[in-house]
Amino acid sequence: YDAQVFQRFNYRFLTLFFKAFSKLFEEIMSAATAPINTFTITAPDDWHIHLRDGQALATTVPHAAANFRRAICMPNLVPPVKTAADAIAYRERILAQVPNDSISQQFEPLMTLYLTESLTAEDIEAAVDSGVVKAVKLYPAGATTNSADGVSHINHCTDVFAKMEALGLPLLVHGEVTHHHIDIFDREKRFIDEVMVNLIDKFPKLKIVFEHITTSDAADFVLSQGKNVAATITPQHLLFNRNHLLVGGIKPHFYCLPILKRQSHQKVLLDVATSGNPKFFIGTDSAPHATHTKENACGCAGCYSASIALPLYAQAFESVGKLDKLEGFTSIHGAKFYGLPINSDKVTLVREAWQVPEHYPYLDGKDLTPLMAGQTLDWKVMPFNLAV
Ligand code: NCD
Ligand code: ZN
Repeated sequence: YDAQVFQRFNYRFLTLFFKAFSKLFEEIMSAATAPINTFTITAPDDWHIHLRDGQALATTVPHAAANFRRAICMPNLVPPVKTAADAIAYRERILAQVPNDSISQQFEPLMTLYLTESLTAEDIEAAVDSGVVKAVKLYPAGATTNSADGVSHINHCTDVFAKMEALGLPLLVHGEVTHHHIDIFDREKRFIDEVMVNLIDKFPKLKIVFEHITTSDAADFVLSQGKNVAATITPQHLLFNRNHLLVGGIKPHFYCLPILKRQSHQKVLLDVATSGNPKFFIGTDSAPHATHTKENACGCAGCYSASIALPLYAQAFESVGKLDKLEGFTSIHGAKFYGLPINSDKVTLVREAWQVPEHYPYLDGKDLTPLMAGQTLDWKVMPFNLAV
């Protein structure tokens, strides 16, 4: 009798135990697989943005200021930002367009100088002393929008590079050769072989950001270098490839430089961006051009993404199950590379479908078509009305 009671008890106990355990197991599994619907990260920066000048600032600055605490402002104005005095004046024009709300008011434009062959080591010292110039941008002459004043003979810049190396001022590189006979899809790789390797050989401690990388060659190259060599990656190069640009009709709003490459490159970029490696960080390369200048027989290069960049990066990271690596990429690695403090405040993203506006008002009665215009995105940056 005793043995029977014991057996029954034992059976009961086991059943209860099993039920409780399977419930717990179910809960654990659903927590692990349920999509995250809201998450909060350190407020991001943008380490590569084009704000333009004059009236354009009324459109570009509010988007940048709402979405990023700091932004490295590209110097390819007409005429370019060539001296510390130019940078100080440009910074003031940007600040004058920052909206009054408490988020935007934190915005800090970080200025860059446009490297020309007439820039001197003294100009570099003055730039660092100004406190506002955080980097120098190298455009090979003719590589992209407003790059006519860029560098043709990189050997003419050795004093400048030596001074930058000594002072720890980063060189931001548009890494494409420009010789007419070189295929547009090969220009980044050729730049690595013909320019980048020699540059690093001569200035092994120079801080270099290989800007908006688009190929596995560039990703591998950056991985093979020391801590002083890093790279930015745009949202479009993580989410798209040249099929998006060219299949089923030419889509001018996907056209930027360096041009979108084949899917195998896109995959490698997504791998390195989401790997947690601090060498890779955000740089939207948001580059506005009025709609009619992109939808044109000779359309301008540049994708406008400042207002949607964070949702785009979130979408790209989520596509490979790496949302947990987003914060490092958008908000930590870049600040560390530049030796700047990490932002202390946070930003929240919420999973909520919304439609990207078809246009923003731009310049005098013109408009600007953002990347993904009219398309649905999965993530919203809060406060939403400010961000877009
Ligand atoms: C940029 C622009 O329009 O200023 N265009 C682009 O396609 N990225 C220039 C640049 O960064 O190459
Ligand atoms: Zn750019």
